[in-house]
Amino acid sequence: MSSALKHFLQFKDLDQEEVAYLFERARQIKQMFKAYKPYHPLLDRTLVMIFEKASTRTRLSFEAGMTQMGGSAIYLNTRDSQLGRGEPVEDAAEVISRMCDIVMIRTFEQDIIERFARHSRVPVINGLTNEYHPCQILADIFTFIEHRGPIKGKTVTWIGDSNNMCNTWLQAAELLDFNVHVSTPPGYEIEPERAGLFGTAHFEEFEDPMQACKGAHLVTTDVWTSMGFEAENEARKKAFADWCVDEDMMAVADPQALFMHCLPAHRGEEVTAGVIDGPQSVVWDEAENRMHAQKALLEYLLLGRLGH
Ligand code: CP
Ligand code: NVA
Repeated sequence: MSSALKHFLQFKDLDQEEVAYLFERARQIKQMFKAYKPYHPLLDRTLVMIFEKASTRTRLSFEAGMTQMGGSAIYLNTRDSQLGRGEPVEDAAEVISRMCDIVMIRTFEQDIIERFARHSRVPVINGLTNEYHPCQILADIFTFIEHRGPIKGKTVTWIGDSNNMCNTWLQAAELLDFNVHVSTPPGYEIEPERAGLFGTAHFEEFEDPMQACKGAHLVTTDVWTSMGFEAENEARKKAFADWCVDEDMMAVADPQALFMHCLPAHRGEEVTAGVIDGPQSVVWDEAENRMHAQKALLEYLLLGRLGH
């Protein structure tokens, strides 16, 4: 155990300056990748990825990113490891962290990853919990900056469930000083404490999703039912019917507004095909940028600050 270790368990584990560094570093790393320039700073380093929920992008972006940087990644899941048979998370952390250099975990309650981190000898990265998805928001804001410049002072509109993505947007808004307009159906409102917020200055709640979209520089949404909440699916389909991001909502946003979705998406539920496949959507850049942003994060957590 070590308290000096740097983990990334929620967005506010980084400060404003570190986030700015990571965005610049992600830009440089992406540029090298696009130029086919070999870059192997993580030679002989091993990432262990633990998945207690399904994934396409998170697994792929971490594994490809580690390989591209000269390291390797090992995939563990609950189904065929002892984690699924009740081995205490603290014991798993002690053992796993003796055999690798860094760990990424996708799991259920945030408490699980916090406990793992307390018993880990190496940095731990949150690859999604019920409460947060910090790697995704790192990539999303990097994508916004690539397309539109600094996010400070801008308005991001969140439509739909007050889930892990929404909570992380709210944390990022406090750290990076932008505003979030949130519109959720009744009964699915945000819980500032669960989101880990300091105050209410950086978000505003709207009953009407159209009102929330007015003037937004970025409109974003996510599935109505997150992983782990499948039993609520039918009730959610009814409750969320009016929280589908459509062309009318995009029309009241800023003319330069972007659309983002962390994916996977359900066309016709939380977003229309016209919006997600339309000209304002940057979802494919957003998905690709998971890899570039996480490469910068892995490099930073393992090697500290590099580059210029
Ligand atoms: N956005 C995201 O985390 O995707 P996966 O569930 O495919 O990893
Ligand atoms: N909120 C979604 C995000 C998936 C990447 C979930 O937790 O299932």
